[in-house]
Amino acid sequence: MPFSPTDPFGPAAERRVAALVAGDRVHGTTTDPSPHVRPTGGTTVTEDRWSAAFWDAHYDTRPQIWSGDANAALVAEATDLTPGRALDVGCGEGGDAVWLAARGWRVDAVDVSPVALERARAAAGRAGLADAITLTATDLRTDPPTAAAYDLVNAQFLHLPPAVRRPLYAALADAVAPGGTLLLVLHHPRDLAAGIPRPPEPELFPDEHELAGELDPARWEVLVAQARPRPVTLPDGSTVTGHDAVVRARRRV
Ligand SMILES: C[S@@+](CC[C@H](N)C(=O)[O-])C[C@H]1O[C@@H](n2cnc3c(N)ncnc32)[C@H](O)[C@@H]1O
Repeated sequence: MPFSPTDPFGPAAERRVAALVAGDRVHGTTTDPSPHVRPTGGTTVTEDRWSAAFWDAHYDTRPQIWSGDANAALVAEATDLTPGRALDVGCGEGGDAVWLAARGWRVDAVDVSPVALERARAAAGRAGLADAITLTATDLRTDPPTAAAYDLVNAQFLHLPPAVRRPLYAALADAVAPGGTLLLVLHHPRDLAAGIPRPPEPELFPDEHELAGELDPARWEVLVAQARPRPVTLPDGSTVTGHDAVVRARRRV
């Protein structure tokens, strides 16, 4: 059956999704959490941009979306940690999970997209690390992680609207065991003014101060709260400096 211009899985939808991530060939981002309703000639299509259907459609646009490498902030912040039990949320194609497992971590990796998880499973297998990584399809909005279970919780580029992000990130913090590490990394809001294509929705881009400020000082020691520069390749092939909002915190014992 030919694609119609309004088919949510057709070429138009593919271009729209690609535009959301095109500004950064290593990492993209998402948009509005509330269902996005657009007219389609008498009918409406409700689009939930944090759903399995949305992300599966995005992953299906190419055999590989991300680089396969671990995120720079994870390498910088987790290399010195003693391996234990890690949770990687919104794990995508598994670059971070494989890197952690290769360093001796037992990793629970969750994502809403079964397509992404299959790629993560394949990456773990290629690395000979399948036994160290448990992959689970989860919508984190409705199924947050278990409290106090992990020595490291890693959340990289899981952009959500504030009303969804704050309770989820609070649950991610709760999932860290006493003495454990919480690592939060997001595209920095200053990228919006740097010519890097991002959804023009500043509320999806809290900075490091906002992220760190949501952690109770009685329970958390914030070790890093930085806008960290990193080269970003634009769709025209040129490179600009983007920034990650990086927060690393240790849960007090
Ligand atoms: C920008 S990608 C980042 C992937 C990975 N963390 C990385 O850095 O390569 C965001 C990921 O979050 C996942 N995601 C989006 N909404 C989600 C939800 N409601 N629950 C769980 N994962 C979700 C997507 O499927 C996608 O793999």
